Parts: sequence; C-alpha cells; structure tokens
Amino acid sequence: MKRIAVFASGSGSNAEKIAKHFVESDVARVTLVCTNNKKAGVIDRMKKLGIPVLIFQEDELENGSVLSKLKSAKIDFIALAGFLKKIPNNILQAYERRIVNIHPALLPDYGGEGMYGMRVHEAVVANEEEETGITIHYLTNEYDEGEIIFQARVEVDPEDTPEEVAYKVQQLEHTHYPGVIESLIQELDE
Ligand code: GAR
Repeated sequence: MKRIAVFASGSGSNAEKIAKHFVESDVARVTLVCTNNKKAGVIDRMKKLGIPVLIFQEDELENGSVLSKLKSAKIDFIALAGFLKKIPNNILQAYERRIVNIHPALLPDYGGEGMYGMRVHEAVVANEEEETGITIHYLTNEYDEGEIIFQARVEVDPEDTPEEVAYKVQQLEHTHYPGVIESLIQELDE
C-alpha cells in the first residue's frame, strides 16, 4: 500500500476528492496533507476525514524540514492540488517522477508564474477561447513546465462567465485527477 501526500494551499476540493477516492483502494491511501496556509479550507476538510495535516512555514520547505517529515511519514507519492508555492529541489530530487501537479487550463497555454485559480479562467474568457481544460503534469522547478501526463478538454460557450468556466474545469479535475494519480502509482517500481 503506497502512501500519498497532497499539498494544498486553498479550499481543498481536489484534496478531498483524492482522499475519498483512495479510502477503499488496494493501491494507496492519502495519509498526509501539507499546507503553508493555516487558514486553508483544506484543513477542515481533512479533519472531517481524519487525515493528518502538516502546516509548515515557507522556510521549512527550503531547509529540508518538510522533506524529513515526508520521509518519516513514509510518503511514496506527492500530488499538488492548488498548492501555490514552488517545491524546492530537495523534495523534487527525492520524489523524481513521483510528484505531480494539476493546472486548470490546457498547458502550455495559460500557465506560468501568477497564472492560477480564477486568473486563468478570466484570461480564457477575455481571449474568447472556444475550449479550455485541465493538465496533469510532472513537477519541475519551473511553474507549469513539467512533462504533460494527461489533459481533458471542455467547451467554453461565448456567454460563459469566468465563474462558469471555473465550475466546468473543477468538474473535470474532480473526475480525472484521482484516477490519474492511481494509474501513476500502479506504474511505480516496487
Ligand atoms: C484547482 O483548480 C487547481 O487546478 C488550481 O487551484 C485549484 C485548487 O482548487 N491550481 C493552480 O491554479 C496551480 N497553478 P481546490 O483547492 O478546490 O482543490
């Protein structure tokens, strides 16, 4: 049984979907959620599910403290779900090809520093795009640049507001992210 850590800074709707997906899985469990935001909605969601939450200061990411907690919790795989800080090299190297992110657009479009959450959907609507979607990718030390693992698309109607686009994209995320994580974990070497 593999152990997953989810990193999240915000509401945590994806973290919750992932955690629930694995509750009865033979493949893995979410055993830790990590956040840099002590006010993040994800904390309450995880409390209800009985999943421990590690709240850390930014310097603890850099100085190896978070990595040593991941190691002592025997974490095998990391999924970012609305985590907005850069993950430093100490963690990237320890979890090479075992750390993924989800982005609420079809990368390489609408990615990069500062492109997150509603800002992405506002830009998609402002540019009158006919479609948008989600991208799941391996994490690197550049924002939104790692190898793409999975994309799913959805139509943008001309009258859609950014909020309506956000809702459509969130549905795609909730539908696909847990299963993609499960497939990647199944492919890991023992
Ligand atoms: C998700 O839409 C995720 O794709 C986005 O943050 C949201 C988190 O929602 N991530 C980024 O924009 C990263 N660049 P949640 O807290 O409800 O899961």
